[in-house]
Amino acid sequence: MTNGVLFPSGPSVEITIDGHVVAANDGEPLAAVFLRLDDIHTRTSFPSAQLRAPYCMMGICFECVVHVEDIGAIRSCQQTVHAGMKVERHDHPKRLK
Ligand code: FES
Repeated sequence: MTNGVLFPSGPSVEITIDGHVVAANDGEPLAAVFLRLDDIHTRTSFPSAQLRAPYCMMGICFECVVHVEDIGAIRSCQQTVHAGMKVERHDHPKRLK
């Protein structure tokens, strides 16, 4: 099944990003979920702490790195979504409160 745009997608599921419940489609790239959010950033750069977001969508730029529970730091464009996935943005410590 496709979503009619770019990526294959399955049934609707819920994941959490920084503790907020977000709707997604089972099997779609995690980076695609971020690109639908109001705040699309996935990580911050070091040392400037600039906001970064998915760019190449093919595993080369590393701008899409996030932390996924039970997996660790991964490129979100290379990770598919599954129900209950717990994701945190890979923020530089300067941005953390
Ligand atoms: S968007 Fe470039 S590595 Fe994921």
